[in-house]
Amino acid sequence: MVVLKNINKIYNEGTPQAFEALKSINLSVSHGETVVLSGVSGSGKSTLLSLIAALDKPSNGKIMVNGELISKLPDLHASTYRAKTIGVIFQHFNLLESLSVEENVIVPLINSGFDMQTIKVLADKSMELSAISHKASQEVKALSGGEKQRCAIARALIHEPELILCDEPTANLDRANSLKFIEILQSLHNMGKTVIVATHDPLFEGLSFVRKVVHMEDGTIVEAKDSE
Ligand SMILES: Nc1ncnc2c1ncn2[C@@H]1O[C@H](COP(=O)(O)OP(=O)(O)O)[C@@H](O)[C@H]1O
Ligand SMILES: [Mg+2]
Repeated sequence: MVVLKNINKIYNEGTPQAFEALKSINLSVSHGETVVLSGVSGSGKSTLLSLIAALDKPSNGKIMVNGELISKLPDLHASTYRAKTIGVIFQHFNLLESLSVEENVIVPLINSGFDMQTIKVLADKSMELSAISHKASQEVKALSGGEKQRCAIARALIHEPELILCDEPTANLDRANSLKFIEILQSLHNMGKTVIVATHDPLFEGLSFVRKVVHMEDGTIVEAKDSE
């Protein structure tokens, strides 16, 4: 599903501030796999996710997602690729506070060409999966932190992406909400989704549905172990 070949990422290339954030990264993630990307802050996790999401381009190397070469996509195609294939969950929610949960969730489909009835069906499905249906008509500003995140998850999943990228998803959550988040990940796994989670939260250690933990250090992968 996702293949990275000899990826390098140099920020500010060709200037005195040049910084090599990723060095010769090789990684493959199979369809339906949940992979945890671990490593301390600054090890390159977010950079790697941004390349897979085609939000940025590698300096060298190739990234294939579903057989499509995405490391060289022009911007317009990159946004189409994201809208079709990728769901991104961040630690910051970027929700529209004065709109309801449901209104926030449907935002990505507003110019999709889907009719309102289809959008409503997709929104219901996504809110159900994200355990936030019971707050559908509530304004976001009245939600708790955990609920806001589940609203952001429902928005990230409304277009039923095949590949879900999570960047430090539990960084702002308490333990109970973090465990709820892990339950949602388990459901996504059961649905056959491919998921990559960048995190240094120890709650992600030893999860039964996580078969691969990729450990990053200073822009390199030091360990990619399969736990059977
Ligand atoms: N836009 C940028 N310009 C320059 N350096 C950056 C940029 N983004 C990240 N970096 C640097 O790249 C390294 C990896 O960052 P990042 O991918 O955010 O790591 P992580 O997500 O593991 O904390 C860090 O040293 C960071 O300072
Ligand atoms: Mg990061």
